[in-house]
Amino acid sequence: MSLSVKVLTLFPDMIRAVLETSILGRAARQGQVDYTVVDIRDFAVDKHRTVDDYPYGGGAGMIMMAPPIVEAVEATRENDDAPVLLMTPQGERLDEGLVLELLDLASGAGEIILLCGHYKGIDERAIELLCPREVSIGDYVLTGGELPALVVIDALVRRIPGVLGNSDSAEQDSFTAALAGRLECPWYTRPPDFRGLEIPEVLMSGHHAKIEAWRREQSLARTRQRRPDLLDDD
Ligand code: ADE
Repeated sequence: MSLSVKVLTLFPDMIRAVLETSILGRAARQGQVDYTVVDIRDFAVDKHRTVDDYPYGGGAGMIMMAPPIVEAVEATRENDDAPVLLMTPQGERLDEGLVLELLDLASGAGEIILLCGHYKGIDERAIELLCPREVSIGDYVLTGGELPALVVIDALVRRIPGVLGNSDSAEQDSFTAALAGRLECPWYTRPPDFRGLEIPEVLMSGHHAKIEAWRREQSLARTRQRRPDLLDDD
């Protein structure tokens, strides 16, 4: 069964362009996922199609209005158990563990809805009514939730079985179980000599056990140097 991914946004073209491309696009063409992109503006309640307004109490910046957002989610959602994500720097920080948890929830419901915030934020009553899972992709502020939503979709879709051509390469990626939370080892391909830089000899040896040992060692050394927080050495 294909997973239904629905994105609610003020910038549908930005989302569509990415979802048609590369592995995300291929996954849809192969029927492993289907994407629905909804323009929140279509759910505006006035003739000017207004979706934002000034904050009560004053202050700089515009706030996305609750009615178009809530109506857009209600019109789009097919399963009341489907997770609704609100992309916001106030949310819980995305990591591979959260990706797998979200994929589990989404697969169970057959559907996941991603809501892209814009401007200064969204009316709190939309959050109260929809009870979304608020997700941040890191401690920095972007101009909107579109890029974060695409990050989440990419991270989710590549974990759907069969989406990546060679499942071995997915298994060995950084942050997946095969390396138990370690970073990737260095990789090389042709040519064997580039501007005087050669390939580590062990990789040319044809000795599979030695190559595996070298890769494990490199991965561990790199993790220790760059991300010691990932190792529990104690
Ligand atoms: N919207 C703006 N910045 C964001 C971030 N870092 N994560 C998720 N949504 C956002």
